Amino acid sequence: MCGIVAVTGYKKALPLLLNGLEKLEYRGYDSAGIAVIEPETKNIICNKAEGKLRNLINNLNDKNISGTVGIGHTRWATHGKPEVKNAHPHTDSSGNIAVVQNGIIENFQDLKNKLEIEGVIFNSDTDTEVIPHLIQRELNTLSKLKLENNGSTLLVAVRNVISDLEGSYALAVLWSGAPTSLVVARRQAPLIIGLGEGEFMCASDTPAIANFTNIILPLEDEEIALLTPLGIEIYDSNNERQYRNPVSLKVSEQIIDKMNFKHFMLKEIYDQPGTAKNWLENYLIKNSENGQYQINYSFDTKFFESIERIDIIACGTSKHAAMVGSFLLEQFSGIPTNVFYASEFRYSPPPLLPNTLTIGVTQSGETADTIAAIDMEIKRRSSSVDKTFKPNLIAITNRKESSIGRQVPNIIDICAGIEVGVAATKTFFAQLLSFYGLAIKFAQIKGSQSPDEIGKLITELIKLPPLLEDLLEKHNQSSEKLAHDFFNIKDVIFLGRGINYPIALEGALKLKEISYIHAAGYPAGEMKHGPIALLDKKVPVISIASPGEVFDKVISNAQEAKARDSYLIGIAPECNGTEIFDYLMKIPSSNEWVSPLLNIVPLQLLSYHIAAHRGLDVDQPRNLAKSVTVE
Ligand code: M6R
Repeated sequence: MCGIVAVTGYKKALPLLLNGLEKLEYRGYDSAGIAVIEPETKNIICNKAEGKLRNLINNLNDKNISGTVGIGHTRWATHGKPEVKNAHPHTDSSGNIAVVQNGIIENFQDLKNKLEIEGVIFNSDTDTEVIPHLIQRELNTLSKLKLENNGSTLLVAVRNVISDLEGSYALAVLWSGAPTSLVVARRQAPLIIGLGEGEFMCASDTPAIANFTNIILPLEDEEIALLTPLGIEIYDSNNERQYRNPVSLKVSEQIIDKMNFKHFMLKEIYDQPGTAKNWLENYLIKNSENGQYQINYSFDTKFFESIERIDIIACGTSKHAAMVGSFLLEQFSGIPTNVFYASEFRYSPPPLLPNTLTIGVTQSGETADTIAAIDMEIKRRSSSVDKTFKPNLIAITNRKESSIGRQVPNIIDICAGIEVGVAATKTFFAQLLSFYGLAIKFAQIKGSQSPDEIGKLITELIKLPPLLEDLLEKHNQSSEKLAHDFFNIKDVIFLGRGINYPIALEGALKLKEISYIHAAGYPAGEMKHGPIALLDKKVPVISIASPGEVFDKVISNAQEAKARDSYLIGIAPECNGTEIFDYLMKIPSSNEWVSPLLNIVPLQLLSYHIAAHRGLDVDQPRNLAKSVTVE
């Protein structure tokens, strides 16, 4: 996490830095800071503030910062508390070098120990601070070799230093010795370069520079670049100069607007009918000859034929989408499927089995654990001599230009548009749709369902957009009212079964991450094996009861909760059995297969309204960040 932005050129740096940081605040908001080179003195002026970006902006209000070269950072704390001393940029002892970094330097303690032995005094508890000190030491060495003070020398110094760093990073470095130059580098953390008018810039993500340019050059992994007002030089890890064509940003990658909504999260919940429409338009193609629908994934799907099992790797909300996916792939398409937490998979993977498809699911495409788990899987499968063990990979992501997009050849772009709220909503929805597409594709290829059954599922998917509009209209106000009654509760239990069990987990995750209320999701049948001990009149139970295979069972489980005095909220259509709920959030009747796509909406709205009612920062909940680029 953390966001970095940097610029060099002929225009004042500060407006771009602050605008960029505002757009990157979703990546972390424990502190913010900037460093700019003062044009006359060539000194580095550094300013940092604890907490949100607005605190930094307040600090800078009465300052005249006219420099044209600068770096900025918004932090999600890893090493060291969220305090000013740990805010970036970090400088060397002379204050002539400033560094911003996103990532984790895993061997920082060893490096720090060595530097301390040499007499370096550290001012922060961060891992990053070793970098400016190491660069200072390197520049001292280079000056003895009579290298000039210029950007190329800084490039050499930074290159030498990063070769000693372990871990992942994206960084930007300023040096008063080369006051118009910036050096930037990345390893397993995102960084893109932007080509503006009279300025070159770089940032962790495209929206940070979209107000200043729509021409970008993504930096590849392990690359380092020198930016000056005159141009850009990019080098790979072998120090070979790299040349590549810039690309244009799509309009959707540039727009970040709350419209008239109070929070991005609410806007993004309301985006979901559009997300469904987009998906149907992009991925559902009607064959004019036989009238049958096909799923239009852009990669060659021949390899699907040999697939005998599927492993899915993901974290957080993406894992919940993967669990719905796994249910579909097993129960609808007949393929044994396992879902793993990426953080577990990378250290305890299952034994290798042949003809396995591995799917990585990550909306940001940058989640460190998911990237590392996929990387490990690619390596161990590629090194096997048996061809049936070879890696078959698909990534499901909202950012096809991200790390996972470069790592995995077959991408399903969920096309949800940028999601700013830290709590994933529309991207979860779009990930779910992507799994419906995969399940249909597998069912067609493997013949596990008749064309008729597949057609029925597709018809249900086509009906989604107006149903979702309707749900939003019905439940926005009612969940606001419910939030009024429940905003002070301490614990909530979510129950679901079958394909809706992951929706119970997701409902609980949404509530806890934005409202800080303890919530837990369970398969409804498991409640009596322990969690039922938690129930009394202070613990409401939200029960997802979609007509189908397990409807009666879920109603019986809800009954058991009611007998323990819990207030019962039902997420269900109005039908026989649902009268037991104290409050029913009515869902349109649908085929059980598609019910997760409807059930999730009132749960998102309820979490949103409870958090908003509590006066919390819905879009930027404490301790979280939108993309978790550290392990
Ligand atoms: O970008 P990813 O989908 O890989 O992110 C995974 C999780 O960090 C993410 O889903 C997290 O749980 C969200 N805050 C959920 O709202």
